[in-house]
Amino acid sequence: MFLFLNGNILKSEEVRISPFDRGFQFSDGVYEVIRYYPKKFFELESHLTRLKYSLSEMRIFIPDLSGIENSLLELIELNGIAGEESIAYIQITRGTQYPRKHSYADSTEPTFFMTVEKFPSKKNEMQNGIKAGLEEDIRWHRCDIKSTALIANVMSSRNAAEKGFTEIIYHRNGFITEGAHTNVCVITGDTVITPPLSNFILPGITRKLVLEICAESGITYFEKNISVDELKRSDEILILGTTTEITPVIEIDGEKIGNGKPGPLCKKLQQEYQKLFLSNNNR
Ligand code: PDD
Repeated sequence: MFLFLNGNILKSEEVRISPFDRGFQFSDGVYEVIRYYPKKFFELESHLTRLKYSLSEMRIFIPDLSGIENSLLELIELNGIAGEESIAYIQITRGTQYPRKHSYADSTEPTFFMTVEKFPSKKNEMQNGIKAGLEEDIRWHRCDIKSTALIANVMSSRNAAEKGFTEIIYHRNGFITEGAHTNVCVITGDTVITPPLSNFILPGITRKLVLEICAESGITYFEKNISVDELKRSDEILILGTTTEITPVIEIDGEKIGNGKPGPLCKKLQQEYQKLFLSNNNR
């Protein structure tokens, strides 16, 4: 497998990262996951804008990102997946610092790492829906930063898997925030509702696209807080994300949502979303 590390394309066995890297010791880094629908990266600019936001909020030096698209396309070619639905993973940490110290020095050089891997759409989940569970959101108050410090999400995701759930939906003070790796929206009647952007959720790119689709297709939508009760009583629930795309949730903690089947608005939004990446590829 070929990877990108600090400006070089290397074979995975050639990659060396210091154990004193602050990404390893403190999860002191940020990341992005970007979808590749042959033969283009989808919403690359939006992901890079958010990457710069995360870096600047964490006060990590922003490396030159201008060559990213070419490097990622080179990785796709070298790894022989140019014809496959894939994802890119980008991680930038604050870099190496010794001796270990919580407070960071200004002089560290960021560690800039990228990989690509095959990632086919989860068609079965998108068509038939998934089961999710609810958990209290115990994460920090800066979930708007796409930080690699994901241990709360990791623990929730494992709990979910053990209970047969595909995703966990978090609530804070009785209101829905987001999923462990997705944003959430509900549909009541023919209205799409999603929690407003805040420091408690990631400003998801799929969420943004879904709201744009609503605006363009004349679907009524609101950004407003959703109580746990409202979530359970809604007609449809959708989880949204780069890897998840638009996936219906048909059960929450064992309770059926609506009639327990993916609903009509979900299908409409999925069709419009697919048009977006197909037209992106033909451009
Ligand atoms: N997750 N909220 C959280 C906590 C996420 O981790 C993600 C994405 C989203 C959706 O954002 P977007 O639509 O921009 O992908 C919302 C990525 C895919 C991951 O961690 O793998």
